[in-house]
Order: sequence, then structure tokens, then C-alpha cells
Amino acid sequence: MTVLEDSPFVRACRGLPVTRTPVWFMRQAGRSLPEYRKIREGVGMLESCRRPDLVTEITLQPVRRHNVDAAIFFSDIVVPIAAAGIDLDIVAGTGPVVAEPIRAESDLARLRELVPADVDFVTEAIKLLVAELGETPLIGFAGAPFTLASYLIEGGPSRTYLKTKAMMYGAPDLWNALLARLADITLTFLRVQVDAGVSAVQLFDSWAGALSEADYRRYVMPHSARVLNGLLGAGVPRIHFGVGTAVLLEAMGEAGADVVGVDWRTPLDEATRRIGPDRAVQGNLDPAILFAGWETVERETRRVLRQGESAPGHVFNLGHGVMPETDPEILTRLVALVHEVSGS
Ligand code: CP3
Repeated sequence: MTVLEDSPFVRACRGLPVTRTPVWFMRQAGRSLPEYRKIREGVGMLESCRRPDLVTEITLQPVRRHNVDAAIFFSDIVVPIAAAGIDLDIVAGTGPVVAEPIRAESDLARLRELVPADVDFVTEAIKLLVAELGETPLIGFAGAPFTLASYLIEGGPSRTYLKTKAMMYGAPDLWNALLARLADITLTFLRVQVDAGVSAVQLFDSWAGALSEADYRRYVMPHSARVLNGLLGAGVPRIHFGVGTAVLLEAMGEAGADVVGVDWRTPLDEATRRIGPDRAVQGNLDPAILFAGWETVERETRRVLRQGESAPGHVFNLGHGVMPETDPEILTRLVALVHEVSGS
């Protein structure tokens, strides 16, 4: 295995002392970069995720440009469910769209188990990437069962999660069968990435913030915990992230995370009090601050670094993904600032 234990990123995930606070950005690869827009011309999102040459190039683009401390494997959370038989597309400007949503017991058969051979292209891309990246760790990722279920049940992005919650509250047996299947798929998908050489994994439960703590613990956490605990022996740090999850931070840590991702709504010192002293934190500059001028970026970055000092480990990131309109030069400057302010 190739976990880069001495890298600032892995050390911070493990709560060990670092020479500087490591930094990477969710969605660092993507539309904020002109070189990304160019290479994606005429190639669909799902197709680009299935081509190891493109995945490798797109993953490396932000590493070359910004000097970030980690790369994130270029893919999407719906790639494994497409590989497990669901007919879907990723529509530019919208997100994942599922042709026939899952609404009834009889629909479950269309979501079969994932076997590693279904995602050979992932193994191939990660092997190429690990060789190219050298001392820079590669982060693997997957969508968590709740967030994946929301796309499968709604058929696409949603503001209210009405159909998702209707199934969760009204048909708990079907709900648990669906989430258990998704947990299996997710665990297989993450194990494939670990076996191919990633140094950490991030479980994205982006939309879990739609739930109360009690409902999260009852209907969602057991399934996410099965994924995270299933990786316990894998030897890689596990990051668990969601948006709008202030009331869920403690539970998301308990689910089996080494690092809890925090959005911009909760200061990192307060987040650490809730999560406890055993886990590191990741975050949490508001991605919108990057549009407010450099002076503001610098002030807010210093604040985030200061508040992050109360955690046993801090991985600097945004509170959610880079917005497509972001000036990439600000991101490069931000990486240098984090390194300068936190460096010993
Ligand atoms: O750099 C990275 O962070 C790695 C790549 C990555 C993508 N999707 C590429 C992508 C990652 C980690 C994801 C995860 C993902 N996908 C999540 C969880 C993270 C989050 O943002 O909360 C979710 C909810 C999805 C589902 C999804 N896929 C959405 C909401 C969208 C955006 C729709 C749009 O066009 O604005 C996608 C499409 C997508 N995934 C794009 C990229 C680069 C844009 C498609 C394109 O460039 O054509």
C-alpha cells in the first residue's frame, strides 16, 4: 500500500504535528480552470470519468497550477451507481439525472451489486495517478448512501427532498433495503480505490443537512457507519463531509470518521467542541469569499486558520466546492497564503 504517511495532509488527518497546514479544495478540478474547459470540449461528463487518460490529466491540472497538498480523484458520486446498472446522465449545469427513479420495491432490482471489475477504469486511472503524483497524496471518494438515495429517488437534484423523505418516513423497510444496497456499492467502490493506491478517502453526504439529528441517527447513520467502519482496516484516513450539518457534526464523527468536514456556517473551534478531541476537522472558508477581494480573503483565511488551531488536526479547505466562476489565480494565492501563515 502507498499511504503517504509523512505528507502534511495525511499527518493532519491523523492529528499529528505538521510543518504547515495542508490545503486542497473540493471541486479543485473543474470548470474554474480554462485547461479543464478545454479538455472537456465535446466529451460528456460520464464519458470523461471512464477514460483513465482524461481522469489523470484533469486530476493533475489543479495540482500543477495551485501547489495544493492533495489531489482528489476526478470522478462523480454517481459513477458507481451507473456502473451498477442505473440508467443516468450528468447534465451540465443541472447535475445527475436518473431516467427511471427508484420508488418501489420492484425498482430495487435495477440497482445490482457492484463488483470491482465494473469499475476497472477507476483502478487503471488511480494507478496512473499515483505514479504521476509522487509525494502528493491522492484522495479517493464516494457519495454516502443518503445523498446517493436522494438522486435515485427524486430522479435529479432537489431542494426539498420530498420524495426521499416520504420513502424514509413512510416505507422504512424499502428505505433500509435501498440504503443497505447503496452502502454495499459505496464500500466496494472505496475499497477498489484503496486497493489501487489512494492515501485517504472522503465520504460525501452533501445533502444530509436536510435532516434532524434524530432522523439522521435513526435512518442514515447506520448505513454510513457500515461504509466507514468497513474501511477501518484499510489504513487510510476517512473524511466525512456534508453541507448545512451543524447539528449533525457529532454524529458524523461518531459514524466512523477520522476527519469531519465542516461548512462555513460553523466556526472550526465550535465544530471541534462538538466533534470532540479525537477527530481532525476539514474546512471551512465560504467559497463566496473568494469573490470579495483579496483583503477579505486574507482576513477570513487567517480567521479560519486560527480557529482550526483548536482541533487536533486541521486540513484547510473551502466549506463546499469551488464555484465555476472563481478566478483560479485567487486559489493559487490562497494556497500560498495558507502555507505562509501556518508554516513553521
Ligand atoms: O475536484 C473534485 O472535487 C473532484 C471531482 C468531483 C466531481 N463531483 C466532478 C463533477 C467530485 C468530488 C464530485 C462529487 C459530487 N457530485 C457531489 C458531492 C460533492 C458536493 O459538491 O457536494 C455531488 C452532490 C455530485 C453530484 C453532481 N455532479 C452535481 C451536483 C454536479 C454539478 C452540476 C453542474 O454542472 O453544476 C455534478 C456534475 C459534476 N461533477 C461536474 C464536475 C466537474 C460538472 C460537470 C461538468 O464539468 O461538465
